[in-house]
Amino acid sequence: MLADLDRVLFDEETILHRLDQLAGQISADYRDRKLTVIAILNGSLIFMADLLRRIPLPLRLDCLSVASYHGGLQTSGEVIFRQIAQPDIAGRDILLLDDILDSGTTINAIREKLQTASPKSIRVCVLLRKIKDRGRPIEADYIGFDIADEFVVGYGLDYGEGYRNLPCIGVLKKELMT
Ligand code: IMP
Ligand code: MG
Repeated sequence: MLADLDRVLFDEETILHRLDQLAGQISADYRDRKLTVIAILNGSLIFMADLLRRIPLPLRLDCLSVASYHGGLQTSGEVIFRQIAQPDIAGRDILLLDDILDSGTTINAIREKLQTASPKSIRVCVLLRKIKDRGRPIEADYIGFDIADEFVVGYGLDYGEGYRNLPCIGVLKKELMT
């Protein structure tokens, strides 16, 4: 699997060090609030597990499953809710977790949908953000790393459902992307 990478962007130690910092920031911001974390499957699973164990606050956890990529490289622009958890989010402070902010379509659609259930607040935390021109402004409140507009895999991120269990994040070799 590692041999399929063109290069490693972030090794495990670098990722975990950054998670220490993010968790510290989130823990300070959500002290004395009613935190519900909503993780977007499957990409944020590994990120979620490592991040939440660094946040020593009472919190609730729910997961949401959506599809916008259909296994390819380009977003389809359409976000399909495969299942929506029915967490009681009314009056609670919601932190959405996703693996990567690319076009922003996924996060925007989820944010709009959750907004209808009257949460007290919604913030977004992503492990990665691609630096690119976006049609509409989309910002995350907590960002692990900014990266160039390249296709990356590992640490939860997939290509055709593969590579999620790589402990590092890297750029997949171009010839492997068909
Ligand atoms: P967006 O809706 O365009 O922001 O796409 C977000 C989703 O697309 C992410 O949650 C990922 O599942 C997937 N995605 C976007 N860029 C990459 C990438 O470089 N590698 C793997 N998955 C990606
Ligand atoms: Mg994916």
